[in-house]
Amino acid sequence: MSWLVTGGAGYIGSHVVRALAQAGLVPVVLDDLSSGMASFVPEGVALVQGSILDRELVERTLREHEVQGVIHVAGFKYAGVSVQRPLHTYAQNVEGTRVVLEAMAAAGVDKIVFSSSAAVFGTPDVPLVIEETEKRPASPYGESKLIGEWLLRDQAIATAGSEKPLAHTSLRYFNVVGSADPSVYDVSPHNLFPIVFEKLLAGGTPRINGDDYATADGTNVRDYVHVGDIALAHVAAAQRMIAGEPIEAAYNLGSGDGLSVRQIMDAMARVTGIAFTPEIGPRRPGDPDRIVATGQRAARDLDWRMRHTVDEMVRSGWEARRAAG
Ligand SMILES: NC(=O)c1ccc[n+]([C@@H]2O[C@H](COP(=O)([O-])OP(=O)(O)OC[C@H]3O[C@@H](n4cnc5c(N)ncnc54)[C@H](O)[C@@H]3O)[C@@H](O)[C@H]2O)c1
Repeated sequence: MSWLVTGGAGYIGSHVVRALAQAGLVPVVLDDLSSGMASFVPEGVALVQGSILDRELVERTLREHEVQGVIHVAGFKYAGVSVQRPLHTYAQNVEGTRVVLEAMAAAGVDKIVFSSSAAVFGTPDVPLVIEETEKRPASPYGESKLIGEWLLRDQAIATAGSEKPLAHTSLRYFNVVGSADPSVYDVSPHNLFPIVFEKLLAGGTPRINGDDYATADGTNVRDYVHVGDIALAHVAAAQRMIAGEPIEAAYNLGSGDGLSVRQIMDAMARVTGIAFTPEIGPRRPGDPDRIVATGQRAARDLDWRMRHTVDEMVRSGWEARRAAG
């Protein structure tokens, strides 16, 4: 028996693969390597190279590896780009999820953990986001993740009472940072940590986009969580499903306490030893002051907690990025 991790060659997926293996479960990866890297998949873990859009391949992989459950991480994650490429985003995130569910039904696989996103909330107008906070996605990306959640819900309704009722949960990530393995790092050209790392490595000065927000130091506050903690929540969800315990349809993997961009910049200077004063640029359109979620529900069911300080998040990410050369 194994667990299929779609997108297991990516930044988060490859951490999930490691956490599953450490917990004694057998991970198998399906990845088309569109943004992931084969080198991120640990030795000894099967890597099936191909797309989740390939229905036959997904079903064959599920059968050949006697898959017990799927952790569906594969997806197109760039919210900004999704505005220019809505059809691509919908194909990858909506059609991709539909195909995975269809192949699972055909192969008799009845457990799925889905990588959802804070983007389902859009720009929430509340101090602390909870699972029930209104969903108002502000991009095709956020919409596609919300539809992914609905697909799981609807398939669970359709299979309830059958021989194989679908057990499912959607884990909503906020800002995932750091590294739990020095050989894996975030390659995203659009996320704060990699942007700052690349700037510093090139000898440049990182920039803050706006310092006149309604926050204590004027810069955006976001919910940064360590990727290793994110990975452990997937293992806990899988184990809950294996044990047949009830599981919620969605969990916000939030810290309950955000960090401002300036606090991150201070940690970057402290940890890297590179003294810099960030440039202040204009605001980015549509950037809300603050997005912070409580992870209380995940703490109750998935042993969710912040196991890392901001300096540990920065240090681990920086070391992994530098190790990559
Ligand atoms: N990084 C974050 O902060 C964050 C926040 C919220 C949600 N998410 C979600 O988490 C998931 C993983 O994000 P990540 O940061 O690891 O990104 P990533 O780009 O590193 O990982 C995505 C992986 O999926 C693979 N993939 C993409 N399309 C595929 C397809 N059609 N078939 C097979 N494999 C495919 C890629 O090659 C890559 O390995 C995504 O679904 C993303 O939307 C990420």
